[in-house]
Amino acid sequence: MSGTEQARKAAEGLTYLSGFGNEHSSEAVPGALPDGRNSPQRAPLGLYAEQLSGSAFTEPRAHNRRSWLYRIRPSAAHPAFTRIDNGGVRTAPFTESVPDPNRLRWNPLPEPAPGTDFLDGLWTVGGNGDATQRTGMAVHLYHANSPMERRVFSNADGELLIVPEHGGLLLRTELGLLRAEPGEVALIPRGVRFRVELLDATARGYVCENYGAPFRLPDLGPIGANGLANARDFRAPVAAYEDVEGDVEVVNKYCGNLWSAVYDHSPLDVVAWHGNHVPYVYDLHRFNVIGSISYDHPDPSIFTVLTSPTDTPGLAGVDFVVFAPRWLVGEDTFRPPYFHRNVMSEYMGLIEGAYDAKAEGFVPGGGSLHNMMSAHGPDRETFEKASAAELQPQKIDDGLAFMFETRWPVTLAPQAAEASCLQTGYDDVWQGLQRHFRSGDA
Ligand SMILES: [Fe+2]
Repeated sequence: MSGTEQARKAAEGLTYLSGFGNEHSSEAVPGALPDGRNSPQRAPLGLYAEQLSGSAFTEPRAHNRRSWLYRIRPSAAHPAFTRIDNGGVRTAPFTESVPDPNRLRWNPLPEPAPGTDFLDGLWTVGGNGDATQRTGMAVHLYHANSPMERRVFSNADGELLIVPEHGGLLLRTELGLLRAEPGEVALIPRGVRFRVELLDATARGYVCENYGAPFRLPDLGPIGANGLANARDFRAPVAAYEDVEGDVEVVNKYCGNLWSAVYDHSPLDVVAWHGNHVPYVYDLHRFNVIGSISYDHPDPSIFTVLTSPTDTPGLAGVDFVVFAPRWLVGEDTFRPPYFHRNVMSEYMGLIEGAYDAKAEGFVPGGGSLHNMMSAHGPDRETFEKASAAELQPQKIDDGLAFMFETRWPVTLAPQAAEASCLQTGYDDVWQGLQRHFRSGDA
């Protein structure tokens, strides 16, 4: 069987645990999970007990993240890490370029060379903050055509929100297996080791690396107890382990650099676990889209799936926002997204179809950056069409776009500023917007 067939077989019929932020527990072998305590004198079945702390011990209970892992060998049983080439991966602080006030847009990355796995194909667009201070975020793309083989990745710098755009992924994590298809997102918490296998010949997508507070569901305020991303639609894996002896490379991203060590066993050897520091997947098609049923439309914060708050209430380090299929019914309303200048910075990507503010040029796998206070909005063609349209109820059903919206400007990695896929002439989409003003013609 090819690697893809093997991955597809493993991905068939996966079962999951339901809910966001829950205190889950799971065991791949009955009796592997200790009962009534975390660290018994002898853990069941000869396993080692180990805690993985995703928050400080003393953070408020509502935001405390940790999991207890019961594994064949403790994580401490590893040789020294040594630096390896960082490839296309860059980390905040981004100091090699200056922040750019221009509107920028990219075509998808070119085809990768044969034998490119997820880690080889990870390519940083830019970001902000400082990974060592646990603030800010980075935008990455990936484009892969090979599975990670006898190779495992972990990121000490933050959690990874993976947004597949083309090709399904099988994520073998310490806590179990997740399948993530285009239209779904997967989150790998800080420090959780994982391997990416491909369910199709190639895989392409986006990654938000969040150095800050772990993503959580936004508060709902007057919306009430339900809506937006519903907690029960988040799926965590059940315990699954591999009992593999022999060389396995573990690549550790640590304060911006890649470090490697060759273990004599697979560290994906967790037989049972419990806790709330867990990977998960979420199907964006399940997002409960809320919008206006009278006039205007709400700010796109109404489309927030996940948010990483900062010390300032309401000011996210990064929000993950989805523009999902929805009805537009506003009366006397300009229905596409409005013209906008924003103190927040907006990186947008497209998973399926088209986006309702851009008639062309914004393609699946591509991206755009509207940095702090840069003026953006519908292109000329969209504006003219929407201004003249007869306002009937209208379904926007051919697109799935998303945004990483962040409180700090995004500084590009030089490779993104100089990339051949960076479009020239993006400004042109806003040229030729006609003057319509007539003094006294109210
Ligand atoms: Fe905007």
